[in-house]
Amino acid sequence: MIIPVASFDFVVFGATGDLTARKLLPALYYRYRDGQIPQSSRIIGASRSNLTAEAFRDHARDALKRFVTAADLPEETLQSFLDHVDYVAVDGTGDEGWPALKAKLDERPDQVRPYYLATSPDLYGAICRNLAAHGLIGEKSRVVLEKPIGKNLKSAQAINDAVGEVFPESQIFRIDHYLGKETVQNLLSLRFANTIFERLWTSDVIDHVQITVGETVGVEGRAGYYDTSGALRDMLQNHILQLLCLTAMESPLNLDANAVRDEKLKVLRALKPITPADVHAVTVRGQYAPGAVDGKPVDGYLSELGHDSRTETFVAMKVEVQSWRWAGVPFYLRTGKRLPQKLSEIVVQFRAAPFSIFPAEAFGREPNRLVIRLQPQEGMKLEVMTKDPGPGGLRLRPTALDISFEETFKQRYPDAYERLLMDVVRGNATLFMRRDEVEAAWAWADGVLQAWAERAEPPRPYPAGSWGPTAAIALIERDGRTWHEELR
Ligand code: BG6
Repeated sequence: MIIPVASFDFVVFGATGDLTARKLLPALYYRYRDGQIPQSSRIIGASRSNLTAEAFRDHARDALKRFVTAADLPEETLQSFLDHVDYVAVDGTGDEGWPALKAKLDERPDQVRPYYLATSPDLYGAICRNLAAHGLIGEKSRVVLEKPIGKNLKSAQAINDAVGEVFPESQIFRIDHYLGKETVQNLLSLRFANTIFERLWTSDVIDHVQITVGETVGVEGRAGYYDTSGALRDMLQNHILQLLCLTAMESPLNLDANAVRDEKLKVLRALKPITPADVHAVTVRGQYAPGAVDGKPVDGYLSELGHDSRTETFVAMKVEVQSWRWAGVPFYLRTGKRLPQKLSEIVVQFRAAPFSIFPAEAFGREPNRLVIRLQPQEGMKLEVMTKDPGPGGLRLRPTALDISFEETFKQRYPDAYERLLMDVVRGNATLFMRRDEVEAAWAWADGVLQAWAERAEPPRPYPAGSWGPTAAIALIERDGRTWHEELR
């Protein structure tokens, strides 16, 4: 059931950029098409480009044609959506355009007003100061910040300070779009709406956890940004740590934003620091070399970039959460560009059966696994040992109890931004990161970055289309474990 949100004026700074075209406009379009956005709402593009509203609507139309399936975009609905799209040329960090924006917003003073900063984080502070200076912030305003929030703890604090001078924390929405993915939210339901898993969620029963976020793409048009970032900052410090938090956290008191975020924060604070002494043993940095993905030859990172670089496009690590529940249970994390598959999953591997009553030749000795798949084919699988059917000898094999969400619920799976943008309008910050969370994640990641900097080792090359450097396989195999592979 779709419950309409309150009427809003959604102002997007960086309106002509890639994120607006690829994610924000399609997400708002779908919510509009499904009847969640009231007719009195407006989407107001803001950027320095001197465009007319008509020209921006043409730009929005092109973006929607590129990023929304044709079957979902009948001309009548598209036109009706575009009737709600407007534009103001504003210099986010300068003086121009602000009176025009104010005049437009003053036409509807009672609207909820999200300001979405789809710009470089260097501009967040200046845009917020301008919003305040022009009297554009009220009780119904919210500011939405895209990642990366800084490059380390210090720069994150500077951004948070600048934004915090103008907006109270309750009006700041820091996006981590992984939290808007359906399966990620389902982790909360799985853990806290069922009894069977939570009782097993302890170091007595769980052997280890793996989190993999693999991508087939390279750095695409973003080499300039990516080369100053790398896989640890781009994916692990935020998306993967958030997945780890939801997997490892204790039950929150309720689903209020602060209750959930308090529990995630405890996990971040319990992460064992990685030091120069152990960084070599517990982390692997990689960089893709030429290879082939999906059967097509692709360049290596350095030739895409056009110059030498030591930035990692792959990282694998073994992490410990220092708490009673998780003592002795390693979390193996890995993410990379130009891997063989776009695949994100959390694998909870249970301990092996302590003793076998089965004859040696029958017993496959596969431990149970719970595989939570974020993409593709969102769903969950519980791998259990079963008897091979038939009257022959008794042989066991792992079989998956499989819930594919798309097949079960037979409906389109909304993009993460659809839920998150509506949550911003509703003022529900449960799926957004609080300041202390972002800073705790950076404090831990800074330790890893410093340890890498001290050792000054170049990343290990891996052929594009492989699962990273062989050292990443050795990282887990040394412990007598192995990265999860799909059952055949
Ligand atoms: C972004 C990263 O946050 O997430 C990108 O900056 C990455 O480098 C993207 O490609 C992955 O998101 P998704 O939803 O496609 O897994």
